[in-house]
Amino acid sequence: MSQKVRVAILGATGAVGTELLELLASRQFPLASLKLLASERSAGKTLDFRGESLLIEAVNERSFQDVDIVLASAGGSTSKAWAKTIVESGATMIDNSSAFRMNPEVPLVVPEINPDSVDNHRGIIANPNCTTILLGVAIWPLHQVQAIERVVVSTYQSASGAGARAMEEVKEQAQAILDNRQPPTNSFPYPLAFNLFPHNTPINGQGYCEEEMKMVNETRKIFACPELRVSATCVRVPVLRAHSESVNLEFSQPFSVVKAREILQSAPGVKLVEDWDANYFPMPIDATGRDEVLVGRIRQDISHPNGLELWLCGDQIRKGAALNAVQIAELLVKKNLVGSRLATV
Ligand code: A2P
Repeated sequence: MSQKVRVAILGATGAVGTELLELLASRQFPLASLKLLASERSAGKTLDFRGESLLIEAVNERSFQDVDIVLASAGGSTSKAWAKTIVESGATMIDNSSAFRMNPEVPLVVPEINPDSVDNHRGIIANPNCTTILLGVAIWPLHQVQAIERVVVSTYQSASGAGARAMEEVKEQAQAILDNRQPPTNSFPYPLAFNLFPHNTPINGQGYCEEEMKMVNETRKIFACPELRVSATCVRVPVLRAHSESVNLEFSQPFSVVKAREILQSAPGVKLVEDWDANYFPMPIDATGRDEVLVGRIRQDISHPNGLELWLCGDQIRKGAALNAVQIAELLVKKNLVGSRLATV
């Protein structure tokens, strides 16, 4: 990578924003400059980057004039509010929100799966939903060998998906419950500490919540498989920052466990974690802070001759959000595709 790039992080103070900062530093991203943007609440505060104190600015109309890539992670409404300004300023927006993911003009990218879909970007590239990224990285290599016909997935999603404030709230809830006090519930509808509940996004007429439908629709778009049958059940669990998923895959003919293990052993972005004797498999505490999706418990589905079962854990903030966005930025630099192509937003 020889080209140096001017980057802005929109939402720099958030859970994903601070991880983006860490990744840009640790991956030696070829930065020409870095701008930290957030709301008025954070303006004037600073964050450390490569030993320097960088000032946080409140985002405004002129924020993107001297920027090539905007890594946006400040929520869907903020992304929608600034997308036009970003693209018209000539920058490329890599958006972590769900605002543009299903827009047919916007590539939805997991670099291990569909890197070439960035080629036709028109200024905005969407980072998929965290659970979708983790699932995709783990099952795409199998799909390449034998097409998956149906996916049934159950998620165990950590508090980090709801942001930095929600992670703090789970700790406060745990302390309150231990102290026999009423736990605070500002970020979630119910206490999450010592509890779990189905994902708290709106439910559609078929009984699926928004998070579950993101897994269905986004997996189909990323895999370029509009007919892929996917059914998801998404659950929030009192884990701070890595998601887990129980995955059942159905193929048109049997898929040997030995072959699946062999494929996943060398698959990009995947680490096989299986010690059957010790009953040791992926856990969120082991996935936290790691780049790879940990996969294990690969076994034949005893209820279906063409079925495979597996279990995965991945850091929601890292590969599920910030790392995937930085990898997309690296891909743009490698392909010399930095800059907007004036999308209609
Ligand atoms: P701020 O800290 O100033 O509120 P998280 O997902 O962890 O909750 O983080 C959300 C990020 O989005 C934070 O950096 C937050 O900044 C930022 N943000 C929220 N609302 C806005 C807004 N209206 N304009 C710019 N940044 C925003």
